[in-house]
Amino acid sequence: MKEELQELFKAYPSNKHSLLRILQAVQRQMGYLPEEALREVASFVGVSPAEAYGVATFYNQFRFIPYGRHHVVACLGTACHAMGGQLILDAFERELDIKAGEITADHEWSLDRVGCIGCCTKAPVVVINDVIHAKMTPFKVEEVLAGLGLKRSKKDETRAGETQ
Ligand code: FES
Repeated sequence: MKEELQELFKAYPSNKHSLLRILQAVQRQMGYLPEEALREVASFVGVSPAEAYGVATFYNQFRFIPYGRHHVVACLGTACHAMGGQLILDAFERELDIKAGEITADHEWSLDRVGCIGCCTKAPVVVINDVIHAKMTPFKVEEVLAGLGLKRSKKDETRAGETQ
């Protein structure tokens, strides 16, 4: 990673005014800001790692975990929220067993929440791997995830076994 970053740094002056632009470039290249990259950037521009982290967390354009193989974005803008968006996010958190902003241990799934994504008439919506899923319901969450290959959790298998 270090060599990759050194190559990227060549396009920028080594001072603190470059910090934001370099963080953006690193995220463009790597998809997120790994801790090691943040430390390298801080060292290059001459600020502390805490200062670099502080700048990165100030802007919500930065993410600190990688994307999963499947990336789920639940909209909680006004229209989606009014149409039950929080219930949809809750259902994804429950099914994937992660919170918004997290990734599963096997890196298969990541989950985020956003404000309006511009298709309010289809609320509540989620975007999975760049595909919009309209008029979501908690029941549809299970269907969509199953369609993408999410295996049922051990807890659910046990529960299903109890009813047989
Ligand atoms: S509020 Fe969700 S798409 Fe607009």
